[in-house]
Amino acid sequence: MRAVAVTPGKEGFELIEVPESPVVKGKVKLKTLYVGICGTDKAIVNNALGFVRPPPGEDKLIIGHEGLAKVVEVGEGVEGLKEGDFVVPMVRRGGNCFHSRFGRQDYCEDESFVEAGIRGLHGFQREYFVDEPEYLVRVKDQDLGVFAVLTEPMKNVMKVIEVLQHAVARYYEVCEDSTLSCLKAVIAGWGTEGALLAMALKYLGVEEITAFSREESEEKVKVAELLNVEYFATKGGKANVRDFHLFFDMTGSPEVVVEGVEGIRNNGVVVLFGTNDRAPSHELRAEVITKVVEKNLTIVGSVDGSKGNYEQALTLISYWYARDKRVLEYFLEGAIYAPEEFGEALKHRGLKAVVKW
Ligand code: BGC
Ligand code: ZN
Repeated sequence: MRAVAVTPGKEGFELIEVPESPVVKGKVKLKTLYVGICGTDKAIVNNALGFVRPPPGEDKLIIGHEGLAKVVEVGEGVEGLKEGDFVVPMVRRGGNCFHSRFGRQDYCEDESFVEAGIRGLHGFQREYFVDEPEYLVRVKDQDLGVFAVLTEPMKNVMKVIEVLQHAVARYYEVCEDSTLSCLKAVIAGWGTEGALLAMALKYLGVEEITAFSREESEEKVKVAELLNVEYFATKGGKANVRDFHLFFDMTGSPEVVVEGVEGIRNNGVVVLFGTNDRAPSHELRAEVITKVVEKNLTIVGSVDGSKGNYEQALTLISYWYARDKRVLEYFLEGAIYAPEEFGEALKHRGLKAVVKW
């Protein structure tokens, strides 16, 4: 069968032939339906991520971590899954860390975990794979079809929301009528994860969302319009945003984060969600630290998510499917590529590129 692989340490990818694995006791055989591509995949192909590694004893890594697959065979002793079920396979698994004992390997204290398609475990850009049921999240609402491929990136957002709830619990940041409608949120960096985050914030009742990115594009303007988000391009200048409660950074740029800290209101929460080791460095001035202290700010980082976060992501996608399907459709407009077109898919300009297997 075909698979898309990289050789960690080298730039580029190849479409290779690999043998199919048979289903064994306690495992499930899956036919891959769709696999999304994100910034992590692009960085892997460009050899720009230090932690990428193949499974032990191999030199190639099959990439792809935004999967949607169909159960084709269930091994002996497997419960809760049957042929025909749609599932989303989880990215991060196992490890010897304490947190992975109760399914929170997204909070692993050490590096003992693996991530499918990223570090130490093959991913899902291949025709079939055999997997462990504990890492498969069943899609209860199968009507979602291809849109369920957005579950994996959305689970990162659901963890951010979880983190946010912990952060705001240190004080009482709700509006007088107990809703979140008076809160203002700013999203720095307006791409796929930013738009998914806006979908989660809108669901929670945060009405006023401003987003910015360096360069404007037709896609960015259109998705902002669909989500009723106020959007502008900074074109390299400052964003000059002021007087907001929540700041989400998708850029990984120190300069942008400092601007967020400077503009945010007292008790604000700054969530760091994007990484970019190649972003220009920026000085951390003493006044910035004073601001963090004096304003009671919470600055918090978040990566990956738990099985619970995948389930919440599916629920949120179902919500948007019912509320305004156009938003989901827009994500996947012209975005479906064949495995042979993987190179073109990497260069896709819209919000999300997806390989159909
Ligand atoms: C994935 C996460 C993963 C992270 C870092 C992201 O693209 O969605 O699950 O933990 O990359 O490897
Ligand atoms: Zn990703």
